[in-house]
Amino acid sequence: MNTTACTALLALTLTGCGGFDATPVNFSQEDIVTVGAIQTIEIRERVLASLPESAPQVNTQQAELGRLLFWDPILSGDRDVACATCHLPEAGYTDGQHQAIGVGGMGRGEERTIGHTGRVPRNSQTVLNTAWNGINELGLFEPTTAPMFWDSRKESLESQALEPIRSRQEMRGDNFSENGIDAEIAGRLNRIPAYQQAFSDAFGTESITITDVARALASFQRTLVANQTPFDRWMRGEANAMTNRQISGMQEFVIAGCADCHSGPLFSDFEPHVLGVREGTDVAEPDSGDGNFAFRTPTLRQLSLTAPYFHAGQRATLGSALDFYDEPRSSNNPDVSSSDLDPELLEVPEMDDGRGAIIQDFLETLNDDSFDKLVPAAVPSGLPPGGFDSGTPVS
Ligand code: HEC
Ligand code: HEC
Repeated sequence: MNTTACTALLALTLTGCGGFDATPVNFSQEDIVTVGAIQTIEIRERVLASLPESAPQVNTQQAELGRLLFWDPILSGDRDVACATCHLPEAGYTDGQHQAIGVGGMGRGEERTIGHTGRVPRNSQTVLNTAWNGINELGLFEPTTAPMFWDSRKESLESQALEPIRSRQEMRGDNFSENGIDAEIAGRLNRIPAYQQAFSDAFGTESITITDVARALASFQRTLVANQTPFDRWMRGEANAMTNRQISGMQEFVIAGCADCHSGPLFSDFEPHVLGVREGTDVAEPDSGDGNFAFRTPTLRQLSLTAPYFHAGQRATLGSALDFYDEPRSSNNPDVSSSDLDPELLEVPEMDDGRGAIIQDFLETLNDDSFDKLVPAAVPSGLPPGGFDSGTPVS
């Protein structure tokens, strides 16, 4: 196949192409080192690691209460949106949309259509494995300061949980103020006997507070882990869990510089970086990320379920997301002048097409479909779980 045909084909499919010879692998399972609860491997001074084999301990009553709250649209102003509306098990706890649709939207997942508040500026992140957000190469993490959102603007699952409830486009809508919605939600829950009982059992308190709503949601999300991927199993000693090509892909991933940022157990350094991904199509104003056009390195786990990719879902497929790293980047984002660009933007190394395909094979080993997908049959408010089959908002 000649180079031009090869490139054109790869642009569409990112399948293997003759010209690329993977560098011979110069590490083996012998090089795996156990550090606390995780297994680590150092390749060219970059550390990749498994997740801990068991989820962090949580209070089971709080977590099961959290599951009901997560699916209950009672937490939204117009009782039509639940956390699960945008964090669906079948989409790896995302929603299949490039930018999320909350208040006023209709339908589920990819099928969902916009209502009067339009789209949220950003792509829904997975909540799988967020129990470990911030985890480093030593397996250490601090739940009270765990970075949350594409710009890490919140710390901890507890403080994150109240943000969507207060956001007009996500859950609050137009009938309550940002300051009033917490009390409204707590009041509603206090009037539902099944919630009164469940909160009393879980927290030992007489009346329901918004703080305990956040704690229950956080506990539930800490149980949503996907830590049995082929990569994790290979790291834990199962020699056949990865193919030789996937093992080569792991090395090419490091050689291409991906692990400069996508490292450790969650394949994230949890640092902000300016990549210059072109602005999303449905954003009212340029998204400046953390204020400097930087976004937090996302996890590369569960990608087979979490398309589209990047902070506003700018790339529909994994192949096209990887193509981004093979394109000139200096002025990729028309809203970021080159003087604003972080110099490290230019350091993402060239990734030729064959390397992209083999890296994609490695990324396949970071998927685990055995995570908890349980949907409650009913929620205490009596509203449809997830808010989906309602058609029109209930008031
Ligand atoms: C309308 C869709 C929508 C709803 C409803 C929604 N989310 Fe999200 N979620 C998102 C989007 C979009 C982001 C990324 C937002 C950002 O970066 O500003 C996100 C981010 C998160 C994160 C951060 C993950 C990480 O790794 O940083 C968590 C945790 C989360 N949501 C949990 C929840 C919970 C709990 C609820 C219900 C109280 C909820 N979400 C409701 C769309 C939604
Ligand atoms: C300089 C740090 C850095 C390097 C190097 C880097 N990435 Fe990223 N990566 C990021 C950041 C930051 C984002 C999010 C950018 C955004 O959404 O604007 C991202 C996003 C992604 C996504 C989309 C994930 C999602 O859920 O949306 C994929 C896939 C990805 N990177 C793969 C790679 C691969 C493969 C390489 C190596 C060729 C690589 N990255 C190199 C920092 C980096």
